[in-house]
Amino acid sequence: MKAIILSGGKGTRLRPLTYTGAKQLVPVANKPILWYGIESIVAAGITEIGIIISPETGEEVKAKTGDGEQFGAKITYILQDKPAGLAHAVKIAQPFLQDAPFVMYLGDNLVQSDLDLFIEQFKSSHLDALTLLCPVANPSAFGVATVDEQGRLLQLIEKPKNPPSNLALVGIYIFSPIIHHAINSIQPSARGELEITDAIQALIDQQKAVEARQIRGWWLDTGKKDDLLEANRVILDTCLQSQNQGQVDERSQIIGRVQIGTGSTITNCTIRGPVTIGQNCHLENCFVGPYSSIADQVRLVDVDLEHSVILQGAKVEGIHHRIVDSVIGQRAYVKEAPRRPKALRFMIGDDCQIELN
Ligand code: G1P
Repeated sequence: MKAIILSGGKGTRLRPLTYTGAKQLVPVANKPILWYGIESIVAAGITEIGIIISPETGEEVKAKTGDGEQFGAKITYILQDKPAGLAHAVKIAQPFLQDAPFVMYLGDNLVQSDLDLFIEQFKSSHLDALTLLCPVANPSAFGVATVDEQGRLLQLIEKPKNPPSNLALVGIYIFSPIIHHAINSIQPSARGELEITDAIQALIDQQKAVEARQIRGWWLDTGKKDDLLEANRVILDTCLQSQNQGQVDERSQIIGRVQIGTGSTITNCTIRGPVTIGQNCHLENCFVGPYSSIADQVRLVDVDLEHSVILQGAKVEGIHHRIVDSVIGQRAYVKEAPRRPKALRFMIGDDCQIELN
């Protein structure tokens, strides 16, 4: 069995972060979202992985992720020159996949369930497609499925206005090579893309063995800011282990599960976990509250924050209000004047959201 991970797309819902980088590389608990997918595929025993990249962000994904050695896998990069749909991505991956069955993983999805069980069921039931489902409150934002009592898929609709159920299609699929024929038989959808949901529907219409399973545990599609903060919260809650490789002075207090990377200095701070702090950071006179991830080379001085994600190289200084529910981009600089500012000076990029409450 092989795997492909889709890591293209423009990431419009995560702008402005994604103007300068791939959405799949945005970190959750200081690790790129994409790497969780790679690790879960490798944990299921699959080591031949194709990553579909776009011309805009492909080089960055390649540079950061490498040839797979660090994951114990062999990664092949496959360029999709235009965002022509998920089924189009499978089509261009066919020379890599050949006639192997494969897992298809959307690179911005995070799931708690292990993949092994689903792969086992796919093999033992000799399926042509196995899709994973999760009940959601807003099914219109996803592909939506109707299933019978045996778990057989009856119908799939992409982002329906009137959803027939609350079962959303999780962005992880397992296919036999027959999917390539189905993809060759479909036409682009109204939005001009070759949809994987249409290809699966074609398999259903041809009475192929297509089943669905509900996943247990959480599923996070990290496409938007609040989803990203939620993913960060859940991962810190469930996976973070305490580790201190930095320097913490005697005036600082570390409470609960906190990870501090090498070269980081913590001076006169209170850190209340779960919190992860990357390498070579400098934190001084700060309170860092639960569910915060601070990436490498961040400088925080006189700052009080919680439930926030601060990306690499950002500097935040002298803020006299608590920062909450925030995402601060790479190399951003946020500074408040001492006491009451007389004036506010900004240089704010497109699509930024700033709330001064
Ligand atoms: C894609 C699929 C959709 C699925 C979703 C899961 O949508 O088309 O069926 O439910 O991923 O993340 P997209 O995120 O590309 O809008």
